[in-house]
Amino acid sequence: MPEAPALSRAAAPSISAATGNLDLIRPQPYTTWAPQVTAEERATLRRELEQGAVLYFPSLKFHFEPGEERFLDARYSDGKSKNINLRAGDTAVRGAQGTQQDLSDLYKLIRRYADSSESLIRTLFPEYIPHMTRAGTSLRPSEIAGRPVSWRKDDTRLHVDSFPSNPMLGKRLLRVFHNIDPASPRVWRVGEPFGDFAQKFVPKTHGMWPGQAALMKLLHITKRKRSEYDHRMLQLHDLAKADLDYQRDVPQQEFHFPPGSTWIVFSDQLLHAAMRGRAMMEQTIYLEPQAISDHTHSPEAVLARMLGRPMLLS
Ligand code: SIN
Ligand code: FE
Repeated sequence: MPEAPALSRAAAPSISAATGNLDLIRPQPYTTWAPQVTAEERATLRRELEQGAVLYFPSLKFHFEPGEERFLDARYSDGKSKNINLRAGDTAVRGAQGTQQDLSDLYKLIRRYADSSESLIRTLFPEYIPHMTRAGTSLRPSEIAGRPVSWRKDDTRLHVDSFPSNPMLGKRLLRVFHNIDPASPRVWRVGEPFGDFAQKFVPKTHGMWPGQAALMKLLHITKRKRSEYDHRMLQLHDLAKADLDYQRDVPQQEFHFPPGSTWIVFSDQLLHAAMRGRAMMEQTIYLEPQAISDHTHSPEAVLARMLGRPMLLS
């Protein structure tokens, strides 16, 4: 099994699958949620993130307050949803069960993770601040391996995140993950760059028929009109998960995120699969597409280039 790499920035390999030596993990030395970073370090972090790498913080720990360890137990999930969620702006969690005290303590824990994650993103990427919106936060207290789910919902298959009912209209999905389990690593696979993945699957996708976006909204299949960007991204998500040969043969890397580690990715760009692990916290941040300075690697840029026209985002 791969060991966590040493804390070195030297000789970071480029994101190329061509050699078969995929190395997408970029270890970072920071130990606090509002670290001191130089402008040069920030520029490197942003470039790597936007190229589709995993920014990995092996020593950035999210601490429990006394008594909060009890929430590592899956019994606080309500049984219907696998995650306990906090929507931005809400003052209570969803998907949980317990006493009033439990629910209020869960809110405090998850809210603190949301605040810490947002602080990290603001500190590392100040250019994103005018373009970002806090979205959901989740505590995922159940073992991933062996869950009975349909292939489409099976996150042990490599995929890029895309939601059937929640069109993003080009907004990017920036996610901050933390392995809160004290004993087990969170085991992920990450796969080839988005551009290579798109080469294989975009030719198998199709556009929407006239009126489809309006009809889906009318029928409440989607929360708002789906854009062509969303339509293609969703097909890419499904095509990758449905193709078991691709899952097996695509250039990929397994990585074990140890207990107490943090990582940041664009989950709509990085091919990822969560194979094993017990308890994780996750913060989603939406980023307006104009926040992105790399116009080569982003899904929107890749799709526009391949389809020969800008992606209409509405
Ligand atoms: C996913 O985003 O596909 C799942 C991540 C995880 O649960 O580790
Ligand atoms: Fe995912």
